[in-house]
Amino acid sequence: MRNLAAGNWKMNGLVADLAQVQALAKAHPAPDCDVLLCPPATLISRMADAVAGSAVMLGGQDCHANASGAHTGDISAQMLKDAGASHVILGHSERRADHGESDAIVLAKTQAALFAGLVAIVCVGETEAQRDAGQTLDVIGAQLAGSLLAQLDCAPNDLVIAYEPVWAIGTGRTPTLEEVGAVHRFMRATLLDRFGAAAREMRLLYGGSVKPANATEIFAVPEVNGALVGGASLKADDFGPIVAAL
Ligand code: G3P
Repeated sequence: MRNLAAGNWKMNGLVADLAQVQALAKAHPAPDCDVLLCPPATLISRMADAVAGSAVMLGGQDCHANASGAHTGDISAQMLKDAGASHVILGHSERRADHGESDAIVLAKTQAALFAGLVAIVCVGETEAQRDAGQTLDVIGAQLAGSLLAQLDCAPNDLVIAYEPVWAIGTGRTPTLEEVGAVHRFMRATLLDRFGAAAREMRLLYGGSVKPANATEIFAVPEVNGALVGGASLKADDFGPIVAAL
């Protein structure tokens, strides 16, 4: 399977920032991994023009569970696809916290994304309090159980899981490599249990303060198949070395 370097721009990015994407695409014309950028929805269409002909793929940061209708301010999976996206991030901890997204909502969005032909990147991760209470694997297990389909009715490559410890996001702190390995091994075992052998082909990403300086060691951890990168995905000079490390 090909590893995935995914950048989540969150609520950052204006038209002037498209120059960063063009620089990234130019610097990495034939990367050894899949490269994905998830800008705010306002930029997807223009970014699609900016990266046309390059290896960079685009994704949304969320979608509604419905295809269309009276949902002011929301965006459907079909709309993301129409704008040029091939992927969508779902259940990010910031959406779970800021918008009260439950596992059931994430599951409904995942189904909508897959139905629309998007690759779904489903995020899971424990808070610092849960970690301190020794509940990390219980939390991840419950989120996987509630946020994923009962059966894998898509290609294994179309469903990606991102492990993002909430306390590691934007803080410069990361779990130890052993801790990352333990969670990823647990996720793989859980998915194999649930979906059978096809789950070997599902990509498991680590996210949370990934930088050029720690990317190589994190990517060397068994069962880590890439990264979901926030702050360090905004500049080509930071994201480029992370892409190269995969
Ligand atoms: O989705 C990526 C993210 O939450 C990690 O953010 O800034 O810690 O790389 P950051």
